[in-house]
Amino acid sequence: MPTAYVKGAGAFTHYYPKLATIVTVKAKGRENALAVAWHCPLSFEPPLYGVAISPKRFSYELILEAQEFAVNFLSIERARLIAAVGRTSGREFNKFERFQIATEKPLKIGAPILKDAYAAYECKLVEHHTYGDHEWFVGEVVATHYLREAFDEHEVLDLEKIKPAFYIGHDLYAELGKIAVHHIGREEILKGRS
Ligand SMILES: Cc1cc2nc3c(=O)[nH]c(=O)nc-3n(C[C@H](O)[C@H](O)[C@H](O)COP(=O)(O)O)c2cc1C
Repeated sequence: MPTAYVKGAGAFTHYYPKLATIVTVKAKGRENALAVAWHCPLSFEPPLYGVAISPKRFSYELILEAQEFAVNFLSIERARLIAAVGRTSGREFNKFERFQIATEKPLKIGAPILKDAYAAYECKLVEHHTYGDHEWFVGEVVATHYLREAFDEHEVLDLEKIKPAFYIGHDLYAELGKIAVHHIGREEILKGRS
């Protein structure tokens, strides 16, 4: 039950934890990567994924130029890499060289895929719209990379094998608690009381 009240959004960090991803892009002969915590799946058919990126970021202009981007999902062991690309700009230096970021070849787009990612989506930009101080880029997922042994037959992540990197704001990264996975399907719901 809430015990503090402010007008407006306060520090606007109450919705965390969220997965911290790394969005990669290649345009104008340059590769770049930035940390993105504001991202979301939007549609199964076609498969659409959205990322919110401020026009202040170097990546913003690169995504507009490339009309594509990739979303890379990483484990908590890679939190330093997320922080590295999330607290420096590609305008200062080439992050791939500076942080020795290993990449793999993409299948359908130009953006590099991170070797350290346990999953990644290659996205072609289908739409973008300005919401306040961020741009919402919507990409169609045209290729998917994932670590086979980290997922079950339904492509559901095995949390015993991979601990996703969660961000809770203010440069804090979290490995979330004791793993307890509960299957709560429609059958269980209809059998008992919730
Ligand atoms: C954990 C974390 C999450 C972030 N999430 C976002 C985000 O969702 N959108 C955004 O525009 N910037 C986000 N940032 C900030 C950018 O990653 C940061 O400004 C970066 O330096 C931009 O790099 P660039 O100028 O090379 O594009 C985040 C930073 C961190 C550390």
